[in-house]
Amino acid sequence: MAPQDRILVIGPTGAIGRHVIWASVKAGNPTYALVRKNSVTIEKPKLITAANPETKEELIDNFKSLGVILLEGDISDHNSLVKALKQVDIVICTTGRLLILDQVKIIAAIKEAGNIKRFFPSEFGLDVDRHEAVDPVREVFVEKAGIRRVVEAEGIPYTYLCCHAFTGYFLRNLAQLDATVPPRDKVIIL
Ligand SMILES: NC(=O)c1ccc[n+]([C@@H]2O[C@H](COP(=O)([O-])OP(=O)(O)OC[C@H]3O[C@@H](n4cnc5c(N)ncnc54)[C@H](OP(=O)(O)O)[C@@H]3O)[C@@H](O)[C@H]2O)c1
Repeated sequence: MAPQDRILVIGPTGAIGRHVIWASVKAGNPTYALVRKNSVTIEKPKLITAANPETKEELIDNFKSLGVILLEGDISDHNSLVKALKQVDIVICTTGRLLILDQVKIIAAIKEAGNIKRFFPSEFGLDVDRHEAVDPVREVFVEKAGIRRVVEAEGIPYTYLCCHAFTGYFLRNLAQLDATVPPRDKVIIL
């Protein structure tokens, strides 16, 4: 990625997305955030650092103070996606594990926009082509691998960013998906 590349983050208010925004700003790239118009206020961030804002409003204010350009849009709104994509060079998707397959909509918009130099689909974990998982994570791996195959078939330049598991995400709940505190009765060992 060149320093002048304009980077769009889809899912900027998520646990991972905010860090991608901050890293992009720190690297000096013009940084864009696709923000939904009527999304709910987020709870306390999952990956907590001292600098983390606690509400979505604070986070958006933080982005603005850093010079991030906010673009209104939604994965399910094709026109808003194409409009946003036409303003940038690189797309980094950081939407959560329930929206992995929805990335086909981003891929369709990338094809229509025709100007995107590189796409980073929502990965940020193990290399799903080289690791086995048990349910419920297995399903996410299958979906992420499926999106890789669509990206490749469409001929879109891509990077699959694999960074293993985040301790800050899994230690707080003893690796129990969707729990925000350690369970007191039962722990499922994956
Ligand atoms: N390796 C690890 O340990 C680890 C840990 C956690 C996650 N991950 C991976 O990291 C990736 C991101 O996960 P996450 O937990 O950070 O996600 P998340 O916190 O659930 O983030 C969701 C983001 O997607 C946005 N979003 C939701 N629906 C949307 C829509 N229809 N259109 C546009 N944006 C929408 C949300 O915006 P709103 O604010 O508007 O709702 C939010 O910014 C996933 O691939 C996940 O598997 C890896």
